[in-house]
Amino acid sequence: MILQEDIGSIMTHKLYIETVGCQMNMLDSEMVVASLRKRGYELTDNTKDADTILFNTCSVRKHAEDKIYSALGRLRLEKNRHPHKVIGVLGCMAQKDQKLIFDKAPYVDLVVGPGQLQQVPDLIDEARNQPGQYTALSLERTAGNLESIKRSHETFDPMRDPTMRPTPFQAYLRIQIGCDKFCTYCIVPMTRGPEQGRSPDIIVDEARVLADQGCKEITLLGQTVNSYRYRDEKGETRLSDLLLRLHDIEGIERLKFVTSYPKDMTDDLLQVIRDMPKLSKYLHVPAQSGSNEVLKRMKRGYTVEDYREMMSRIRETIPGAAVSSDFIVGFCGETEEEFQLTCELVEECRFKNSFIFKYSERPGTKSETRMIDDIPDDIKKRRNNELLAIQNRISEEDNHPFLGETVQVLVEGPSKLGAKNDTGQDVLQLTGRTQCDRIVVFEGNRRQIGQMLAVGIYEVTPFTLMGTVLTEHVQGDVLQIGL
Ligand code: 5AD
Ligand code: SF4
Repeated sequence: MILQEDIGSIMTHKLYIETVGCQMNMLDSEMVVASLRKRGYELTDNTKDADTILFNTCSVRKHAEDKIYSALGRLRLEKNRHPHKVIGVLGCMAQKDQKLIFDKAPYVDLVVGPGQLQQVPDLIDEARNQPGQYTALSLERTAGNLESIKRSHETFDPMRDPTMRPTPFQAYLRIQIGCDKFCTYCIVPMTRGPEQGRSPDIIVDEARVLADQGCKEITLLGQTVNSYRYRDEKGETRLSDLLLRLHDIEGIERLKFVTSYPKDMTDDLLQVIRDMPKLSKYLHVPAQSGSNEVLKRMKRGYTVEDYREMMSRIRETIPGAAVSSDFIVGFCGETEEEFQLTCELVEECRFKNSFIFKYSERPGTKSETRMIDDIPDDIKKRRNNELLAIQNRISEEDNHPFLGETVQVLVEGPSKLGAKNDTGQDVLQLTGRTQCDRIVVFEGNRRQIGQMLAVGIYEVTPFTLMGTVLTEHVQGDVLQIGL
């Protein structure tokens, strides 16, 4: 006899999930997969085999949304033929477009915002049992009372087992949701709601479980992660305090955090990065532009002088630190002179790398309602390429000092770069990162994956250091040499 409780574990559902966007989205997808695995779902990489198809979406640029609408378009026939398949749109686009998604793709079953992901498993069951259009969305930022808006944006962080992470020894850990900065071009404060720090006790508990599972590297996530603050009866916890607590956890060998906001780069935080060996000497601090006029129009809340001052504090406090940045080119009204100021800032700051984006007008943002997207696409493209060329040259120049040096690499897995030995046979190339987040590729074997190895560097490109393993596993600790 089959009991009702057994049915869930006997029936295996097949889940196809596609994720676009930032690390926060990657983590959200891991969480959704983890919660569905508990209900007997298995992953498939083919929509044809799947009975549940989910898109975890991004709204930061229009291109990311277009990709999802085309993917949905391609599923129209499949859903016609197999109406039992459940199709869900999750994430920022769901929160932003809401019912518009059903207008464009009426065969979608679920539209679930990033603050409501805990509802996904139940909603899928409901949609399977009773076909219809289901939505789970958080309150909009103009919906009144701040506390109720905050409550409607819930963080979703169930425990995952190691197989659900990109590698068993690396994990993202969310410490903050939402954003209160309201840069004029950005949709994130609308889709992910008000900034809210998670409880440090819960974060530390989660990190301990991750360490027990064999996780060696944790990357803390937040939209403006260094603005993290949590107040309770015990007082206030800032990011520097939290990092010190996480540093004590045995088994954790590396700690990183992304993305930082320039104005909140306080000295206490920089000193913790300098003093604590497990902290990656790496900061991602988007500048967005090198022109004060553009920064003002973007409402970034700092000047280029402020950004420079922050950079010199980073350089003074943590010699050898790697800093990366984001830039938007072709923002409303950006003149050639303003763009040149951005090029000058990139020359001056010598970022490890920069992510460069063409401005994309987003409905619902201040720049959309109050400014004109007046820079033609070909100029945006040209500026993008020009800035990228400067950045790539700097990245390569700054990789040169690594030639002949030894770096400590946490090995992540096989590299996409294949290689052959002298006799023409394929050899396994592994990839990992240095303590300052530089990518290293070297010849190795599978059992080195997940280990911390000393690697000697013999060749560099703008994006990669090529090396040879010098020692076996560097026991437990992170050496300071060869950042
Ligand atoms: N257009 C182009 N790029 C954007 N970003 C955010 N909003 C937009 C937009 N509307 C970029 C910023 C941010 C990164 C995650 O995406 O550079 O730091
Ligand atoms: Fe968007 Fe600005 Fe917040 Fe970053 S800080 S998520 S760019 S509003």
